[in-house]
Amino acid sequence: MVSEVLEAVNPMEKGVYVDGTIGGGGHAAAILAASSPSGWLFGCDRDGDAVEAASARLREFAGRFELRRGDYADLAEWIAVGSCDGVVLDLGVSSAQLDRAERGFSFLRDGPLDMRMDRQQTTTAADLMMSLSAEELARIFWEYGGERDSRRLAKGIERERLSRPIRTTGELAGLIEKMSPRRGKKSHPATKVFQALRIAVNGEMSSLERGLAGAMKILKPGGRLAVITFHSLEDRMVKEFGRARARDYTFTGGVDVPELREPRAPELRLVTRKAIQPRRAELAENARSRSAQLRVMEKI
Ligand SMILES: C[S@@+](CC[C@H](N)C(=O)[O-])C[C@H]1O[C@@H](n2cnc3c(N)ncnc32)[C@H](O)[C@@H]1O
Repeated sequence: MVSEVLEAVNPMEKGVYVDGTIGGGGHAAAILAASSPSGWLFGCDRDGDAVEAASARLREFAGRFELRRGDYADLAEWIAVGSCDGVVLDLGVSSAQLDRAERGFSFLRDGPLDMRMDRQQTTTAADLMMSLSAEELARIFWEYGGERDSRRLAKGIERERLSRPIRTTGELAGLIEKMSPRRGKKSHPATKVFQALRIAVNGEMSSLERGLAGAMKILKPGGRLAVITFHSLEDRMVKEFGRARARDYTFTGGVDVPELREPRAPELRLVTRKAIQPRRAELAENARSRSAQLRVMEKI
């Protein structure tokens, strides 16, 4: 969704932009090109390989960017408050991560059950599979994957791991397929479990919550935040974040009762009320973009 992102942040000469999920550097290169000759970009990624790949890709823009390995949740710890014109977060995993069997993200490629974006982190997906109780696994499968059969699958995993460890993507995908045969379904029966485990291993929901707040801090008034999500859990968090801060009142107790509203100045404006979907041409080119949703907000 490069053209949609460019439209959202509208890069300009001398502007300061942030890509919190630099990946292979595609969005970053487009932002630097569009803000030539003097736009600046800060970028980060939790994955050291991504930072390396992006540094190589951005070589032609040397002297106009700074990249760090790190969590976008911590942007406000190294980028000055109120200094940026645009922040982009393109969540989830990259094709470079999905396509490499040894990273353990894909049920289509047999490899170690790893799933860490940051390989300096110690806990892997295999560690969670082998150490969490069936109740904890079921909660993760349900909360982060929306897997309806979460309890039964978690119990089956608990039973299986008594006789042999589950240490590879192939072993986990095979076990789930055995417990939940495809029966003509298009998607692989392990899709939701793999998504849920990945979110749990990388603490993705808590990064997103902290990352949105941090992004608002580093933006200038009038600066834009563009977030691309890939599943409904993330999209809901971004949507609710935007709506809550676009209101001119707050309320306590979790329920919006008009009599209990307290007026306050809104912090942002929703640039688009609805999420933007990828164009047809992109869908044809890139199957992964099927579930992408872009939301754009502007700091007041
Ligand atoms: C969809 S890819 C980004 C692709 C990128 N926009 C491009 O144009 O090449 C997502 C990237 O975000 C990174 N990532 C995910 N969560 C992160 C986090 N909390 N902090 C930093 N990077 C993160 C992943 O490691 C991955 O490289």
